[in-house]
Formats: sequence, structure tokens, C-alpha cells
Amino acid sequence: MADDPLVIFTPSGKRGRFPTGTPILTAARQLGVDLDSVCGGRGICSKCQVAPSYGDFSKHGVTVRDDALSDWNAVEERYDRVRGLKKGRRLGCQATVQGDVVIDVPAESQVHRQVVRKAASDRAIVMDAATRLVLVEVAEPDMHEPSGDFERLQDALKEQWQIEGVTAGLPVLRKLQPALRKGKWQVTVALHRAQGAATSQVLDIWPGLHEGGLYGLAIDLGSTTIAAHLCDLDDGRVLASAGIMNPQIRFGEDLMSRVSYAMMNPGGDVEMTRAVREAINTLAVEIAGEAGIEPALIMETVFVCNPVMHHLLLGIDPVELGQAPFALATSSALDMPASDLDLDAINPQAQVYILPCIAGHVGADAAAVALSEEPDRSEDLVLIVDVGTNAEILLGSKEKVLACSSPTGPAFEGAQISSGQRAAPGAIERVEIDPTTKEPRFRIIGCDLWSDDPGFAEASAATGVTGICGSGIIEAVAEMRLAGIMDATGLIGSPGQVGTPRCEATDRTHAYLIHDGSAGGGPRITVTQGDIRAIQLAKSALYAGARLLMDELGVDHVDRVTLAGAFGAHISPKHAMVLGMIPDAPLDKVTSAGNAAGHGARIALCSRAARTRIEDAVRKIHKVETAVEPKFQEHFVNASAVPNAVDPFDILNSVVTLPKVHYGAAGGDGSAGGGRRRQRQRS
Ligand code: FES
Repeated sequence: MADDPLVIFTPSGKRGRFPTGTPILTAARQLGVDLDSVCGGRGICSKCQVAPSYGDFSKHGVTVRDDALSDWNAVEERYDRVRGLKKGRRLGCQATVQGDVVIDVPAESQVHRQVVRKAASDRAIVMDAATRLVLVEVAEPDMHEPSGDFERLQDALKEQWQIEGVTAGLPVLRKLQPALRKGKWQVTVALHRAQGAATSQVLDIWPGLHEGGLYGLAIDLGSTTIAAHLCDLDDGRVLASAGIMNPQIRFGEDLMSRVSYAMMNPGGDVEMTRAVREAINTLAVEIAGEAGIEPALIMETVFVCNPVMHHLLLGIDPVELGQAPFALATSSALDMPASDLDLDAINPQAQVYILPCIAGHVGADAAAVALSEEPDRSEDLVLIVDVGTNAEILLGSKEKVLACSSPTGPAFEGAQISSGQRAAPGAIERVEIDPTTKEPRFRIIGCDLWSDDPGFAEASAATGVTGICGSGIIEAVAEMRLAGIMDATGLIGSPGQVGTPRCEATDRTHAYLIHDGSAGGGPRITVTQGDIRAIQLAKSALYAGARLLMDELGVDHVDRVTLAGAFGAHISPKHAMVLGMIPDAPLDKVTSAGNAAGHGARIALCSRAARTRIEDAVRKIHKVETAVEPKFQEHFVNASAVPNAVDPFDILNSVVTLPKVHYGAAGGDGSAGGGRRRQRQRS
């Protein structure tokens, strides 16, 4: 009615008139204001907290008197006494309208609150998890009107929450009767509703109000490591992150050798499936322990993975992925019970969502990168490379997005490098070489000092200098090129040509000595000619993939480059450019997105809308198969030069000077093994 009090909600701005005595939660529901409630207004969950404002609000045209809301009632007083209510807060289900009022709904009281990501990007996740908690009061059984306890639970959900057609599996039915009786006919249920599904499923049930929360795992299932974030499904917070090695390594370091293992050994795929599922169970228990929660409270798991891992996780023989035309059993997103994947460490009714694969070589991990980095919403043309054993490459803008994968091999991870090692304390991660003296200095993981800083020996004593990791080898090779120790074809000069005894003769080639720890029993760390060739192969594959996509789109430059992947986070843009790993672009437009695949998994865990979004986006991504494109080989050979034999790299040349040195007969062999047969591998 016109003279009923006016209730204005912020930040939504929604407003309406309600009769005196209307609870704020009721007003919010009628206006479609996003105000949370688990207990349905019974005053026990505290999810409905609001902050009323008093005084003159000329902006809204109202004056809010001190008595605009009902006085504190016994429920609020008890809650404040037992749990404490923040100053200025009221329980929306208890406070009633007495006059015109302005009500702020704080972020933590919104169901669809925004969760700001920690990543460099400022995009937020809007919470919309597939599983939520609701408290219901179920009618007691009546001999004269016999009905099952579950049927009465269904009736209660329909009446109290307008949720119809709810189903439950046997593990829930087994818990139902004791829960109802212990909770005096009041129970909390975890309700799961997949995006687009017509019905909900009860995943678990607790007597009374369940206050232990609900959790989910976002898992990036890589061929080398399995990394997981444990997230709170209520507010999206990451409570713990952990990773373990993928035990399938014992069947083959790279994915193709695992596919071969499956081909050569009957039942080999089953063995690998069992191994990875066991590892995921172990990881789930570990990460839940770290966060201090029961693994049984993990109700959802999202996986992102490359196509081979995808098939091995699902128990599908990956043999078709090892040969052209690289057909996937399915590229669609998948919803399934976790029990289908033998994930018995988490809740027996937990649900799994697997992102869609883009193509036979471009997996759900690349889809997760696309979800996180949103190239399809970009105004400018962005190249996104997820650097790993196999590089996943996305190029595009809101007009069109293309994707391919390129077999970079494990050199960027420090494998196949003579002094290479994984990124761990003691590994050289940064290198600088003085262009005049040709003397190097470096930094190792776990120590903030450079090797020529006073105190480095003491500070690094605990770990020693043990080897060189992926980002370290990239910097070392790029610095060797900048200092004129190596020429554009990748040949290392002799001590006489370069003018330093650090260039050492080894058989018919040379190596550059970065660190000699032999006096103290440590290793001699050198960059050999073989190391340079391995890096050239890897970077040529990456660059050729990117160039192929640029050809396909008809462009010869990109506006910006995003380096994704844990390794991408540590690559220096300048060194990557000197090496010619990525196309020429302004250095300040080359940024790191961190573990974008992991972020994508977390977004899909927290938001059903994001699942729909990426499923639609993936359908529109144009896939390019590098293996069948003759142009790939041409770009690959050109890219073996450092930075490139034909592409000009004008922007790079405006910021660095690349010495014009030649160390081989007729400029060296320059082949970088470009004609060598490449094996397809994935991260
Ligand atoms: Fe649960 Fe208000 S809705 S306390």
C-alpha cells in the first residue's frame, strides 16, 4: 500500500513497500534481493545478517528513524550472546519493518557474492555453487497417515524451500532416519543441482543445523603433478592448496610413452587409471587434513586435465589419442558421481564435473585457461600460452578464438638439460651475464641474494647450488645470446672467439660454465651445446604453434601475450622474447597469469554459470591441428634461430642489442634439429 513503509536494499537498489511487521528476509525474497539463508528464517544460521542505516538519505528520498526496525528480539539476543553479532548487524529473518528503512546486504550475506581472485587479473568469481545447504523441518510420522521419512522430507523441501522432485542415493537414505530423530525432525541437507538440471539430489544429511560447511576440490591433473585447491563452497575461499607427483610417471615420463604403455601392455591403461585415482584419494585426505576438515565434507570435485589424463582418469583407453586423427571418446563436459571414479576418500555421494576438451590435443586444461583468461571477451588480440611439456596455445579476441597445442617437450621444465632439475631450492632460476667480461651471476631458489652479493656463500650453504631449472635455462640461453657467447644459430663460441675461459671445449662443441662447485664437492653447472639445441627445439615448437594460429587469423602481430602455467609465472618476458619463444610484442604487454588452469578449475567449482559459459565458449573455439599443417614445419625451422631467422622482432631490437657474432662455418649448422621427428607430448 502507498503508505506502507518503504524498504530500500543496497547495494542492489531494489525497493518496495511492505506492511509493518514484515521480516526483512521476507521483503528481500519478494524483491529478489540476494540475501542468504540456510535455516529458512528460523534464526539459527545467521546467514541473513543485514546492516540497517539510519538518518537522512536524500539520494533515496527517505529519512530512516531510529525505530524503523523492530527491537532486538530474544533470538537475536541469544545469538549475540552465544556467537556474537557484529556491531550494527541484525538478523534479517528476525528484524521486522516498522518504518522507512535502508538495508545494506553485506557481501558475506549474499548467496551470489563476488569472490576476488588472488591472481593478477581483477576479475571476480560470482558464487553459484552447485551444492548448497538447507535446513528443513520434517513432519513426524503418523500411523494413521503412513508415509516414508524421505517422502516427508521431500514434502518439507517443497513447502519450505519450493524445491521439488528431490532424489537421494542409498548412502543418504541409510543416514536419514537417525538424522531426523537425532535432530528432532530438523535436518540440514546438502542439495546438489547441476546446471540446467530439473531436479536436485540430496548428497548428505545432518541432524539439526550443520555448521561444518561444504567443500570442493579444484584439481589440475597434470602428467607430472596433480595440484589441488580445497575451496569453501559457501564463499569460494581457498582453504588449502597441495600437490603431489602423478604416480603414472612410473609408466612413462611423458604422455606418449604412457599411451605406448597402454598399447604394449594389455591392461596397462587400467593400471594407470588405478594409480592416478589412488593418488587423488591420497591428495584429498592430505589437503583436507591441512585445512582441518573432514574429507567427507568434500561434496564436489572439478577436474581440468589434458586429453590423455582425461581418458586415463575416466578409465577410457587413451590409445586413439596416440594416433591420427586423435579422436577423443568425448569432448563434452561431464557430470558424474565421484564414486564412478573410485574417489572414496571424499563424501560417498560427492559429484564430479570435468571441463570440456577443446580437441584431441587441446584438453580441458586449455578450456580452464580460457575460462580464467577469457580471450573470447578480450577487446584486443591476446596470445595465451600455457607452458608445460606440451604448450597449449590460445589466440583471439571477442571476435574469434583459435587454439592448438604444440609439442615443446620437457626442456622448459629442466628435463633433458645437462644440469637441469625441477624448480626446487638450490636450482638456479635467474641468470645475468656481463656483456663485456662475459662473467655470469645468478640467483637460486630459496635465496634472495645474487651469487656475487656478499654473504651468498653462507646464505646458499643450506641448499647448495644444485642445478638449473626451466626459467634459469631460458635466462641463461637468452643472456648468452645477449652477451655474444652464442650466435643467432645457437652455436657457442670457443674461448678464443668469445674471450673467456668459461667457454670450455667439449668434444667438437663448447659449453659455457655458469658455476663450478666442484671444490666443495658440488656440481659444475654448464650450458652445453646439447642444452641449447634442446631449448631451441622447445622454443621453436612453441613459437611455430603461435605463428600458425596467427596465420590462421591473418595477423602478423599480437597486442599482448599472457604466459600461463606455474612455469610461465617465472619466465622473464625479456628473456622469452630474446629467445624467440613468443612473438614480438611490447615487453610491458607480456604478463604472467600464474596457474590459469587451476584458477579455471576453481571458477568452475564455485560457479555453475561459469560451467555453462565455458561449455559454450569451447564450442566456438576454432581448433588448429599442428601435426598436419605444413606451415608448422616452416615456422619451426625459422624459429630455431635466436630469436628468429625471418621474423624481424623490431620491438625487441628497439630495447636490446643483439651482437652480430658468427661462430660456425658458414654461420653454423643452424638446423637446431629442425628436421628431427618430433614426438607429441603434453603437460
Ligand atoms: Fe537463518 Fe536468519 S535465516 S538466521
